[in-house]
Amino acid sequence: MRIPAPGLTRWLVGLPALLLLGLLSWEACAKQEAAVPVEFQKGEAKFRANCVRCHGERAVGTTQGPPLAHKIYEPNHHGDAAFQRAAANGVRAHHWQFGDMPKIEGVTSEDVEQIVAYVRWLQRQAGIM
Ligand code: HEC
Repeated sequence: MRIPAPGLTRWLVGLPALLLLGLLSWEACAKQEAAVPVEFQKGEAKFRANCVRCHGERAVGTTQGPPLAHKIYEPNHHGDAAFQRAAANGVRAHHWQFGDMPKIEGVTSEDVEQIVAYVRWLQRQAGIM
């Protein structure tokens, strides 16, 4: 049997190993949080300014408020109008033990519309809708 030159052996072993490594790191990247698409970035900014202190980054919740990227806030259970009402009037605690949500001053219904679009996107990312 012809023994391949050491250089070639290194290639034969090294190349697939490199490919595998590349594939694995690509997979790891793909599993990371998707970047927020441009059309939801306004909503994200307004969510950050007005809602994040209680509902958390990416709406995962905090000790002050529930996750909005949650099944119970999907559109069939809490439609967009529920978001408008929550911002305009506040919310009496009823689903959780966080206490009441105060009404949020200074957000217009258009702001809330953008926030809802962002939250719906997060819900889709989380496989909720
Ligand atoms: C000071 C904390 C706080 C802030 C700020 C806040 N929330 Fe809330 N929010 C809560 C809490 C607490 C609840 C849960 C009430 C309950 O027990 O059902 C809630 C519930 C909600 C609900 C569910 C309403 C329902 O009908 O059950 C929506 C929608 C919501 N918030 C949207 C928002 C949006 C949008 C913003 C930003 C404009 C925001 N919240 C800002 C604390 C907050």
